[in-house]
Amino acid sequence: MSQPTLESILQENRLFPPPPAFAQQARITPERYEQLCREAERDPLGFWERLAREELHWFKPWQQVLQWDPPQAQWFVGGQLNLSYNCLDRHLENGRRHKTALIWEGEPGDIRTLTYEQLHQEVCRFANGLKALGIQTGDRVGIYMPMIPEAAMAMLACARIGAAHTVVFGGFSAEALKDRLRDAEAKAVITADGGWRKDAIVPLKPQVDLALAEGVPSVEKVLVVQRTGQAVEMTPGRDIWWHELAPTVSEDCPAQPMDAEAMLFILYTSGTTGKPKGVVHTTGGYNLYAHITCQWIFDLQEEDIYWCTADVGWITGHSYIVYGPLSNGATVFMYEGAPRPSKPDCFWELIARHRISIFYTAPTAIRAFMKSGDALPRQHDLSSLRLLGTVGEPINPEAWIWYHTVIGNERCPIVDTWWQTETGGIMISPLPGVTATKPGSATRPFPGIQADVVDLEGDPAPAGGYLVIRQPWPGMMRTVYKDPQRFRASYWEKIPPKDGQYFYFAGDGAHRDEDGYFWVMGRVDDVISVAGHRLGTMELESALVSHPAVAEAAVVGRPDELKGEAIVAFVILSDGQEGSESLRQELMQHVVTEIGAIARPSEIRFTDALPKTRSGKIMRRLLRNLAAGSGISGDTSTLEDRGVLERLRQEV
Ligand code: PRX
Repeated sequence: MSQPTLESILQENRLFPPPPAFAQQARITPERYEQLCREAERDPLGFWERLAREELHWFKPWQQVLQWDPPQAQWFVGGQLNLSYNCLDRHLENGRRHKTALIWEGEPGDIRTLTYEQLHQEVCRFANGLKALGIQTGDRVGIYMPMIPEAAMAMLACARIGAAHTVVFGGFSAEALKDRLRDAEAKAVITADGGWRKDAIVPLKPQVDLALAEGVPSVEKVLVVQRTGQAVEMTPGRDIWWHELAPTVSEDCPAQPMDAEAMLFILYTSGTTGKPKGVVHTTGGYNLYAHITCQWIFDLQEEDIYWCTADVGWITGHSYIVYGPLSNGATVFMYEGAPRPSKPDCFWELIARHRISIFYTAPTAIRAFMKSGDALPRQHDLSSLRLLGTVGEPINPEAWIWYHTVIGNERCPIVDTWWQTETGGIMISPLPGVTATKPGSATRPFPGIQADVVDLEGDPAPAGGYLVIRQPWPGMMRTVYKDPQRFRASYWEKIPPKDGQYFYFAGDGAHRDEDGYFWVMGRVDDVISVAGHRLGTMELESALVSHPAVAEAAVVGRPDELKGEAIVAFVILSDGQEGSESLRQELMQHVVTEIGAIARPSEIRFTDALPKTRSGKIMRRLLRNLAAGSGISGDTSTLEDRGVLERLRQEV
């Protein structure tokens, strides 16, 4: 682990109190916040228990709020509920039956709107469809979909019958899909012919075919939703069109009562080894945590129209497109595509057309918008907006200020939300009616969350150290699928427990300022964040060395104005190979084929050696210096061959 770089601490002191007009009507006022914090401090378990009782529907109450056998947590032990019931059925009885649940717009401009009653009906039908294919409670189902309503329906249908889903981002390659389906031992895959993204059709079904052709023995059925209408091959007996199955199944499907600790989903994320981790979330704790964070942090009000621009393939899509907002009975807007040259202002147009009031996006998107100038957003009526959010990586103060002035018209609080796939929901964030924000800081932990910055001994290190969580919380991941040892080693042993106190190690460097605000500075492990997406250096290196021309590869991140970090690969070629421009392009494409377009290296540098320690470990720190074009800093005394650095420098 490298030390978080103190140089990168942002010197930002501007303070933005909640706009008075906003604060007056906010769900959580300063007084309420004080009460909640006191309650959570006095009796943490009582705090979560009260919320679980008041905010969710349970078929059966729990016997124990938390069973904590570190690092194994079980929340609401013995309780039974169903997340799809909490997202749908209960709203039919609480006055939201005819309220719009989902507004969706496709890239070609087609629009669909579903009320809670209609969404409920569709999900029930989908759930029966899955049952008709032989899917049962406890099975795993892969979901590889474009951003269409059926993606959310598929997730909710799985939750309804108690099958765990594993959503694989539609931008991942067949190879990456295959690995995930294999690890999860998925019994079925739900996909679509394709989807629209950036003015083109992204084929999905052919990728599923490729993945399965390589052998994923567990997969028996492939359910295909028709979206784009292009021709796809259907394997008889295995592949079924949803529009052919749908009319044959009923709309009546009661939600299956599930144990609070029943596995809800697996979501794969990059870690420090070549193999992505299957992060496991369970039903009760996750439902509560996604629900309550969504309600308080986004200040959800009955008339809001809420848009989170993530993809359902990421945790942000799980918690803040689907489960969090629907559990609260909100109106969710969902968009299929992305800003593109033919429509660079499509986001602003969508906000104006659908009167979006809450907008949640990523710093990388904000930086791209900022670069294309103020004129585009100024051409649209953004007056419906009342709250803005960001997630995925640290936001630089310039981008924050631009977001605040040009998009928010200085009226909208910004919630900079820090969290991870592993945490299930937002952990550190302003509460928009309470917290005075500072551009670049995620501010303070959510009530009930005990975050801290410590050194490797677990002692407080507010000036710069590792971001940790000191107490279990309901939304926490439960394990790495089929690999509890990796769960323990990656998150709970990096900082050894002390006096019975366990530290959840997030893998981020941070510091705290004099007001106790958190400033997250980025990963301290071998994980690169490209446009807010996590990619492990080992994963990228394995992809490169799987090409016959490559003998060895080392990958690092380089600071990038738009993407946060860009991928730079140092490659040693196999004997007899010549480093040419065409080989460089071929290797870039190879990584795309192995992982997906988000993993395309920005730069590949051919070299004859890599800087290594005497024990043979690649010194990535030095490669990062080289990639960034900065001078070599820090200690080089452990280098085995000092000549390597000189040669690498000359090659540039
Ligand atoms: O490094 C942190 C960064 O994103 C990582 C988590 O990535 P992932 O599991 O893909 O989830 C992303 C969406 C929740 C974190 O370890 N990160 C996320 N949000 C922020 C952030 N870094 C700084 N500020 C944030 N608001």
